Formats: sequence, C-alpha cells, structure tokens
Amino acid sequence: MTPGRRDTETPGNLKTAMLSLENIVKIFPVEGGILRRKIGIVPALKGVSLRVPAGGSLGIVGESGSGKTTLGKIVARHLAADGGRVLWEGRPHEEFSRREWASRVQMVFQDPAASLNPKLSLRVLLGEAVAVRAQIDGQKGPRRAERDRRLQALLDEVGLSGAPLDAYPHQFSSGQRQRLAIARALALRPRLLVADEPVSSLDLSVQAQILNLLMDLKDRWGLTYIVISHDLAVVSRLADRVAVMKNGEVVEEGETSAVLAAPRHPYTQTLLDAVPAFLR
Ligand SMILES: Nc1ncnc2c1ncn2[C@@H]1O[C@H](COP(=O)(O)OP(=O)(O)OP(=O)(O)O)[C@@H](O)[C@H]1O
Ligand SMILES: [Mg+2]
Repeated sequence: MTPGRRDTETPGNLKTAMLSLENIVKIFPVEGGILRRKIGIVPALKGVSLRVPAGGSLGIVGESGSGKTTLGKIVARHLAADGGRVLWEGRPHEEFSRREWASRVQMVFQDPAASLNPKLSLRVLLGEAVAVRAQIDGQKGPRRAERDRRLQALLDEVGLSGAPLDAYPHQFSSGQRQRLAIARALALRPRLLVADEPVSSLDLSVQAQILNLLMDLKDRWGLTYIVISHDLAVVSRLADRVAVMKNGEVVEEGETSAVLAAPRHPYTQTLLDAVPAFLR
C-alpha cells in the first residue's frame, strides 16, 4: 500500500535531508520453550522511508507495538536494521564512527529513571558526555573547574540551575530526572534529538513544563527533532510534520496541521478520536 503521502512537499524537504531512512526493515526473533529456541519472527518494521530536513521536527505516532521505538533506536544506532539505509546528509551511517554518530544523534527515553545510571553522580553522568564531545572535537577533556562550569551551564539550559554536581539521579523528581536526561543528551551537542515518549511517564503539569523546555531548546540550540508519541496532542505541540505508523508501516505522512485537520487514513482518524477535543 502506498502511504498517504501529501503532495505539498516543501522545497526544503526536497533538498538532501539531514536524516533519511530508506526502506528500513527490522525483524525480531520470537523465542520460546526452556531452550529459548527461535519459534517465529516479529516483523517490527516492514520498509519505512522518511526524511527529516535540518531544523525540522518529525512526529511519529501510532498504537503500541507499531514500531515507533524500534525506528527511533535504529536512527540513534542503538539497534541495527535488517534492511534498508540510514543516511546523514546523503552519507550512509556506516561511514560514521559510533562517536561521530553520537555527536549528531542523541535519544531521550520515556523513563528517565531507567535511562540514567543511578550509581553515577551528575558530575560523572554529564561529565562523561562532555569529555566524549571534547574528544570528538580533538580537544583534551576540560580540567575540573572548567568542566564543572560547563556542567552548571548545561544544568542552566534545562532549568536545573544550581543543582549540586555531587547529587545522584534518585535525589530528583521524575520531571527533574527527565531534564537531566535531556542535559546529558545535549552535552554531546547533537544536531538531532530523538525523543521517545518524552513526557508519558510524567504528571500532566510536569508534561507541559518538559514540552515547553523541548520547544525552547529546539530554538536555542537549532535542534532537529524526531518526537515519538502515541499522543497526538504532544506531537501537535512539537512536530511540524507527522508520520502515522501502524503494524511496522507508515500509513500517512504530512504537515502536522494538515494531517490532524483532515486525516486521509481511517487509522489516523481513530487515533484523533482518542484525543480530547480541548487538547487539539
Ligand atoms: N527486543 C525485542 N525483541 C523482540 N520483539 C521486539 C523487541 N523490541 C520490540 N519488539 C516487537 O516489535 C514490535 C514493535 O515494538 P516497538 O517497541 O517498536 O513499538 P512501539 O510503537 O514503540 O510501542 P509502544 O507505543 O508500546 O512503545 C512489537 O511487536 C514488539 O513486541
Ligand atoms: Mg515505544
């Protein structure tokens, strides 16, 4: 089936995209029995093609199990695809080392408690990322006083000014932990941030604060976003384009406002019907 792609591709979208996905396939084995033998496969992605221009923000929506996280992890190179190509400014991702990729693409997850190592203080959590970035830039890691100054500047960026660097993640609230996870991602100075359900684990009032933070950072840092969410209201705030996934395929893609105002695929309408009217 041809996805409901719209004809209103802007010229910016026709240039070499910053990130292109071409026909991405991912298949997971299903294991069973006490010997954990392979008893089947799950085709998680069945040939997904998407383009994200520099400075753009692409939302990915779809029901649970539709392949959103798998796609995000492939973009961030936390997972390898079984087929298809991932390109950065037209160059296949294999041409980039892990570190070079990490300095371009960072991912933030739904559950900051799980994604931040609880044994590491902020100084270590954030300092490692700053040191990696310095290495990529061919510089020596900064000395302690300078590094601490940079870490405090990072904490300022995410609204945690003055947080003690010898504190541990569990000493922070879940919203503050998500801010820490964002700070760690920013420490690599990436150009593309993949945010996978960045607010779903948070209380409603905290959700709004984190969404505002992500919007501010996009402008201040000139970031490009892929925002994964099952929640169309989140995507309508953060993404100028949206791709709708179902069963490992993109069934509709276009400008967020156009897709939300007049969905072409019945499945998108079903997702829209689930959003309370006051949030649209
Ligand atoms: N490591 C894995 N091993 C086996 N199957 C997996 C693995 N990761 C994902 N899957 C399967 O791949 C499919 C897509 O999963 P994925 O997590 O990408 O969906 P999702 O859209 O992010 O869902 P959710 O909204 O619940 O986060 C699902 O059928 C899932 O069970
Ligand atoms: Mg997911």
